[in-house]
Amino acid sequence: MYEFSSIDSTQTFIKNKLLENDIDEGTIALTDHQSAGKGTQGRTWFSLPKPQLMFSMLLNVPIPPQKLPLLNLVSAVVLADVLSEFGIVIGIKWPNDIYIGSKKVAGILSELVVHDKNPYVIQGLGINMEAESSDFPEDLRNKMTTLSQHAKSKIDRFELLENFLIRLEMCLFEDHLANLIRFTQEGFQKYWMYRGQEIEIQVANQILRGVANEIDANGSLVLCTNFSQDLRKIVSGTILTAASIDKPAKNA
Ligand code: BTN
Repeated sequence: MYEFSSIDSTQTFIKNKLLENDIDEGTIALTDHQSAGKGTQGRTWFSLPKPQLMFSMLLNVPIPPQKLPLLNLVSAVVLADVLSEFGIVIGIKWPNDIYIGSKKVAGILSELVVHDKNPYVIQGLGINMEAESSDFPEDLRNKMTTLSQHAKSKIDRFELLENFLIRLEMCLFEDHLANLIRFTQEGFQKYWMYRGQEIEIQVANQILRGVANEIDANGSLVLCTNFSQDLRKIVSGTILTAASIDKPAKNA
């Protein structure tokens, strides 16, 4: 394990180490602050003033390439399980966000890197532990939250990390892939924040509307579209809204 008080990005660090053949599978890089934290879709991951839980891991899990998106969701479910034990009600926003209520508390970034003809996944997690909402830039204040704002007692970030890693390892090195898939699908059902609600999802340049209540064995979101009873499997997309969350109540 590499530990930093500050670095540009733990994702970049792990990737460089991999390209230099200077790293073993399972290596973790952990930092308190990042100056160029990476988020999904080319976004940046904001670094808060106090140390948060931010780390990246090099994974080389023997699963078929079409199932790699499942790795994001396995970690999301494991993290949701661990956080739920602190009495916090957690929601998963497919494919990589962890929410408390309507605000995001953690994000997961999984990047596929092929090196020496072998596929690796560099997976990074950013978990907001402690901050005032004024510590976030204005545009994030209403969108992001921290564990400290919801937990009844202080959560030790190293204990949280240890708990997460022990459980993740148990899941990933399950002898039977079917068990990993079942764990993830059941966990998704438990934590999916838009269960039974209509969502809008952007897939390439199309916006689809429908209800999704499950993921398939590859981690794709199974969307039942509104106007037909068609089931669409979404491999990659961005959820824009859930109608019942974003619309004001009728008598408001
Ligand atoms: C997201 O956009 O929600 C994913 C955020 C992932 C952030 C983490 S913080 C540790 C690791 N290093 C990075 O540069 N990004 C990930």
